[in-house]
Amino acid sequence: MSRQLQQYERWRADPQGFWLEAAQAIRWSRSPTVGCELRDTPNGRWFGDGELNACDNAVDRHVAAGRGAHTALIHVSAMTQSERHISYAELQDEVARLAGALRRLGVAAGDRVIIYMPMVPEAVFAMLACARLGAIHSVVFGGFAARELAVRIDDARPTVILSASCGLEPGRVVDYHGLLCKAMELAEHEPSHCVILQRPQGPATLRPEIDLEWQQALRDAPWVEPVPMPAHAPLYVLYTSGTTGKPKGVVRDTGGYLVALAWSMHNVYAANSGETFWAASDIGWVVGHSYIVYGPLLHGCASILYEGKPVGTPDAGAYWRIVERYGVTALFTAPTAMRAIKREDPDGAFMRAAKLDSLRALFLAGERADPDTVRWAGDKLDRPVIDHWWQTETGWPMVANALGLGLLPIKPGSPTRPLPGYQIEVLDAEGQVLPPNTQGELAIKLPLPPGCLPTLWNDAEGFHAAYLRAHPGYYTTGDGGHIDEDGYVHVMGRIDDVINVAGHRLSTGELEQALAGHAAVAECAVIGVADALKGTIPVGLVVLKAGVGISSGSIAADALVADLVQRVREEVGPVASFQRCHIVTRLPKTRSGKVLRATMRAIADGRAFEIPATIEDPAVIDDIRAVLAPAT
Ligand code: COA
Ligand code: AMP
Repeated sequence: MSRQLQQYERWRADPQGFWLEAAQAIRWSRSPTVGCELRDTPNGRWFGDGELNACDNAVDRHVAAGRGAHTALIHVSAMTQSERHISYAELQDEVARLAGALRRLGVAAGDRVIIYMPMVPEAVFAMLACARLGAIHSVVFGGFAARELAVRIDDARPTVILSASCGLEPGRVVDYHGLLCKAMELAEHEPSHCVILQRPQGPATLRPEIDLEWQQALRDAPWVEPVPMPAHAPLYVLYTSGTTGKPKGVVRDTGGYLVALAWSMHNVYAANSGETFWAASDIGWVVGHSYIVYGPLLHGCASILYEGKPVGTPDAGAYWRIVERYGVTALFTAPTAMRAIKREDPDGAFMRAAKLDSLRALFLAGERADPDTVRWAGDKLDRPVIDHWWQTETGWPMVANALGLGLLPIKPGSPTRPLPGYQIEVLDAEGQVLPPNTQGELAIKLPLPPGCLPTLWNDAEGFHAAYLRAHPGYYTTGDGGHIDEDGYVHVMGRIDDVINVAGHRLSTGELEQALAGHAAVAECAVIGVADALKGTIPVGLVVLKAGVGISSGSIAADALVADLVQRVREEVGPVASFQRCHIVTRLPKTRSGKVLRATMRAIADGRAFEIPATIEDPAVIDDIRAVLAPAT
């Protein structure tokens, strides 16, 4: 029996004992004596009587153990061509003083702080400073538009917002401060202060009534010690796209999360303290929270914080030169990044040119890893390419080939087997468990393991409705797939209205809301269609209001489409990569009025499909085919 399977069986035999033992990897101010309790909720509450501080575990603990001089963070910016090494002792000093500055501004345990920042070390200091105070951070990804930030401000109701004057994207300076100002005009809630990091590439004009310059805020700030927090206290809220236009605030507790991350660093990623770990993601996503910040730091690794792209900054060799220069042992990125590299460097010349001896494996997640890309990367790197499946809600992988427990045979297209804590079943629409090799909904038997979301921020009812109600006793993942005869899970994609664009999670509902707000639009639908680089891209179909008088293909129609594209960019953000939109006379619907999105997706992807018997008017399919079918 493989070690991964042995661990899985150990967990099944004694889930409480398994996780209480794993909890010993964490420094508690009061050790937990109970594992999972089911008192208030069927998904479980972990380590209820434990008390700890996340920042203490990620930072102070290493300094106290005499590892203060070891590197904690390496900031590598392809945009400013600079690097900065920060030791654990330096990190402690930065974070303790920033926590002091925040406390001086009135931030206390349980308060929310929004962090809207590019990939700079101060963003990590900010997250850890909140954790040190027991305040709840909510990081908002920089590629979102002001309106998305405003929605999050109103939901989280932060005491303070931490931001920067600008972010740097290839060929443009992103005006973070301008976006923040616009968002604050749109939002009802007003924080007491905004602390702004001035970057020389694009300084901001500060608003004297509310903005404080970062260094000024830090001046003479008192050093603050970590505040012990109950294990179930929220560490952060991370908003993610759901099936409606309103983002869901995924709550992460403290104790369970740290225990799960510590277990995964060792067993999934095979990382050792002192090694360099690189999750090439963004702090605005869950991967950034778990594997740029908390996971590697908990484990005493040096974590790379990369401001740049896999290609074009300056070329497709950027990742491999970083692996060589900093001795990266584990690289974690999205399949899209690998596809982008493959497109620019199909023969892997850049990989061969770099010395990659340190690299043990490449980890992929965030979207389905297509077998071609897995094989190509495995071939060129001559290393295991480990696909693993997880989501914002779980906070750490559900299914993986746990390298630290010995590599299982790789089946490209499958993230391998469930990890301890996750009993994954394939269910039919009625909630019956399906046999191997049968396609259905992927669900997790409750309770959820440590680290997974206990609830949604301000929305306990929404949490139950979105995840627990469809199939009592299970958490619904929103993904479809099957489990094969070897117990390998195959994740085929979302079965709801969530799409994954270049590893970024978006809701078609959010995009539809932006289109529907245009004065000329009567109704609309957005579907995700297959894309060779980004995995999926959104495509809009709009029906215009009677009397608008614009016919498809005209100059006026082109101008309207350009307007709609711009509107999505301004309301949702450039990260949506929304560039394709068609004007149609009708949308295909069932007689009960449900838009046939799956049929439109099949047409756009060039897949076989059957016209549903419930369709209102079969003739509309020809119109849709005319605009969506791929050119042959
Ligand atoms: N702040 C502001 N804008 C941002 C941003 C940020 N943090 N991140 C992305 N954007 C903008 C980009 O500038 C781009 O804007 P543009 O339309 O003006 O060019 C748009 O959002 C889309 O960005 P992106 O998804 O990065 O696409 P791209 O075409 O610029 O680059 C790839 C293509 C493949 C290089 C890129 O998608 C990539 O690196 N993907 C990997 C994603 C990843 O690591 N995800 C982590 C999940 S684990
Ligand atoms: P996010 O919450 O942004 O991490 O997105 C989670 C979603 O990304 C999942 O529900 C899946 O649809 C998709 N996803 C993540 N990892 C994988 C994977 N390894 N294979 C297939 N889909 C994945």
